Amino acid sequence: MGVVSTLHTVYILNQIITILQFEGMKQLKALILIGGFGTRLRPLTCTRPKALFPIVNKPLLQWTFEKLAENGVNEVILAVNKLTEFHIKQARMPKYGLSVKFSLDPPKMPLGTAGPVKKAEKLLGHEEPFLVLNGDLITEISYRQLLRAHLEGKAVATIALHEAEDPSRYGTAELAEGNRIKQFVEKPPKGTEPSKLINAGVYVLSPKIFDYIPEGRAVSMEREVFPKLAEKNVLYGHKVGGLWIDIGKPEEYLETNKLILETCADKPRKARNFNCKNPVAIGKGVIIGENSVIGPCAILGKNVTVGKNVQIRNSVVFQDAKIEDDAIVEGALIGESAKIGKGAKISEGCIIADHARVKEGAVLHEKVHVCPAIEVA
Ligand code: GDD
Ligand code: MG
Repeated sequence: MGVVSTLHTVYILNQIITILQFEGMKQLKALILIGGFGTRLRPLTCTRPKALFPIVNKPLLQWTFEKLAENGVNEVILAVNKLTEFHIKQARMPKYGLSVKFSLDPPKMPLGTAGPVKKAEKLLGHEEPFLVLNGDLITEISYRQLLRAHLEGKAVATIALHEAEDPSRYGTAELAEGNRIKQFVEKPPKGTEPSKLINAGVYVLSPKIFDYIPEGRAVSMEREVFPKLAEKNVLYGHKVGGLWIDIGKPEEYLETNKLILETCADKPRKARNFNCKNPVAIGKGVIIGENSVIGPCAILGKNVTVGKNVQIRNSVVFQDAKIEDDAIVEGALIGESAKIGKGAKISEGCIIADHARVKEGAVLHEKVHVCPAIEVA
């Protein structure tokens, strides 16, 4: 660990102590739900969980760890399945002073979004409220403020509520007096939403929640538990603003990268042999050939190799991929170690999974998905 990151970790540890003293709590735990199958991001999720998708060359989970530590969390429980656990352990990412534990869904029995909370009852304990997060989010939500809102009232659960243009794709809430949630409806049919306020996938729960989740089966927080809590008048909301995105669909994943790129792109660079159109992010060990045009909005993971006269814009290229001479990549996601052959054209919305190969001169029209390790001509 370098001096700068050591100092950063010390700074975060100090933050944790200050925040917990302020809230009068001994510790703050967070459970992150990351055992879903990421079906909407296939075929990239065939080989990695959503939580490990790079957001401007840093895994989503690493962004989350960093934010949790900054908000005073000291222990994280990852609610995973066996495969997700394997991938996360392999990734060996920085933990910013957090203690990280795993809680596994049983084999062949995904527990849904509430079942894993019950499963982790012993780890979460009965002493203090804790945070629960969906693991596929990039947000600016202040967990501390959410915690304060929760501690002020008599809520069993306090949900961060974000305003959305199309609430029908999410869990929706109708607020009553004092931020009590009168009604919670998961993914209501379009036109029947009780409001534009959606469940941002971030909650503070009190230990009383364990009484509301049956044991030993899949339970949905949104379809079973929240409606029950609303009925008992113990479900509360806390409105939040700022950046909030669920990366669960390809276009949202790309959009997230572009938004974050605007805040942390590489400094404008004068490339000698290629044309760099900012914003771009170029990972370590990337090689770019003559006359290639990189950007705007191109993110190249570490050790990506780009040939001559290549054009890459509005795309995310995962680490170790190879884009050969004269290829064009536009509005696409290119998986780890994938190979795009000479002169190939990859159009808007295409997803090329890990280790897949697109042959020389192939033209992939909009939204073509190529499975892992497949070769297409
Ligand atoms: N351990 C475990 N087991 N985790 C799971 C399981 C499971 O069986 N199923 C889903 N998860 C995790 C996913 O990995 C994800 O991080 C989180 O739970 C939410 O699941 P999604 O499948 O992404 O749900 P969604 O995006 O359709 O809807 C949820 O998020 C919206 C905000 O983005 C709901 O919570 C909505 O109410 C909410 O508005
Ligand atoms: Mg989601």
